[in-house]
Amino acid sequence: VRAPDLIARKRDGGELTADELEWLVSGYLAGAVSEGQIAALLMAGVLRGFTPEEARALTDVFVASGESVDLSVLDGPTIDKHSTGGVGDATTLLVAPLLAAAGARLVKLSGRGLGHTGGTLDKLEAIPGMRVDLSPAELLDVAREVGCVVAAQSAALVPADKAIYALRDVTATVAAPALIASSVMAKKLAAGAQTIVLDVKAGDGAFLPTVDAAVDLAQLCVTIGAEAGRRCSALVTAMDTPLGRAIGNAVEVAECATLLSAPPAGRLAEVALELAATALTLATGADDARARLERCWSSGAALERLAAMIAAQGGDAGVCDDPAGVLPAAPVVLPVLADRAGVVAALPARAVGELAAALGAGRARKDDAVDPAVGIVLEVDVGDEVARGDRLATVHARSDTAAEAAAERLRALVVLSDGPVAPPPTVLRRIG
Ligand code: URA
Repeated sequence: VRAPDLIARKRDGGELTADELEWLVSGYLAGAVSEGQIAALLMAGVLRGFTPEEARALTDVFVASGESVDLSVLDGPTIDKHSTGGVGDATTLLVAPLLAAAGARLVKLSGRGLGHTGGTLDKLEAIPGMRVDLSPAELLDVAREVGCVVAAQSAALVPADKAIYALRDVTATVAAPALIASSVMAKKLAAGAQTIVLDVKAGDGAFLPTVDAAVDLAQLCVTIGAEAGRRCSALVTAMDTPLGRAIGNAVEVAECATLLSAPPAGRLAEVALELAATALTLATGADDARARLERCWSSGAALERLAAMIAAQGGDAGVCDDPAGVLPAAPVVLPVLADRAGVVAALPARAVGELAAALGAGRARKDDAVDPAVGIVLEVDVGDEVARGDRLATVHARSDTAAEAAAERLRALVVLSDGPVAPPPTVLRRIG
C-alpha cells in the first residue's frame, strides 16, 4: 500500500476500505504517514465527500486508537449527551441533574468553548473549587454516588481523533459531515454510555447553518451509534438566537441554578427537557418520561442533584441557592437600553456569541484562558415588545471601555421591528 495511491483514489472520487483507512490513521500516529499526506487526504475527502461506510470505518479506527470507559459497573441506565455547540447553550447543566433525579446515570465528557460557542467545562470551572479533571475511578464514584458527572475527556480516549481534529482545524477541513460524525461518535462510543442523545444545532450560531445539513449529520451519527449497538437519537434544534438568556460562564451557571429553582420556563428549559425526555424514553422505554422529568424539575430534585454533583467534584454547592453570592462577579455591569420602541425581531446568535467571547468569556485559540466573570445577559427574547428606554441586555465586563464598546455593539445587534414577530422555534426535527 502506498499513501499517494490512496490519496489519489479519494481525490478522483473513489472510496477507501476500512483496512486502508486504518492503515493511514495508524501510520500517521506512528509517524510513517506524513501530516501533509493526511492533510491532502482530508481535503480530498472534504471536496469529494466520504461515504457513510468510510465514516463508520473512521469511527472504529478512532475508538480503537485509545482506551474506552467501562460503565457496566454502574446500576441503572447509562446516558450520554452531546451538543454540536451553540450560544447560551447550557443544556448539559440541566439535562445531567434532571436525568440523575429520574434515576438514570449521566456520564458526560465535555469540551471547552472555542470561537463564538461556549463550553461546559469553562462554565463549570466558574464555580469556585470545581474540578473537571477526574481520574477514571473518580468519574465512576461521582456517577455512582450522585447519578451524574461532567468532566474533561482524558488524553487516553480517542487520541487519533485528537491528532486529526487538530490538523483539520488548521487545514480548513473541519466541515465535512462524515468527518464530524466520526469524530463526535468515536468520543461518544469510547465514553461508554449505552444511550446517546445528540443535540445537533442548525442556524446562524451553529456549525451547520441549514436544517438539511444538520439532519444529514444527525442521521449519520444516529446510524453509526445504532450500528455500534447503542441506543441513539438526535434532536435538531434551532440556533439562530441564543438558547438561554445568559452568554458567558458564571452567568450561564447562575441562569441554570435559577431556572432549576422554579418550574421550567423558556427555550433553554424546553430544549433541556426534550433532550432529557428523549434520552430517558430511549434508555428505559418509559412513556411518561417528559412528565416525570418535569416533576423532578419542579420538586427541586434536579437542583438538589446539581448541588450534589458540584459538591462531589469539589465545587461550592452554595452556588445552587445563592449564585450571586458564590460566583465571580465582573467589576463593571452595564445595562443596554432600547433607543426606540418596537418588537424584537432578531438576536443573531453568532454575533452575540462573538461579542461575549471578545469580552473574555470565550477563546480564539485552544490554549487561551477565559474570564469566568464576564458575559452578556439578555433581558428580552425574539417576539418581545419593548418601549424606548427598556433594558435589552446587561453587559458584565472587566473594564468600562470594554463594557461601553460591547453595549454599543449589542444595541446595534438587537433588531427591532414594528410588526408582531413569532417566538423562535426550539426542536426542529427528531431523528432515531
Ligand atoms: N466536534 C467534534 O468533536 N468533532 C468535529 O469534527 C466537529 C465538532
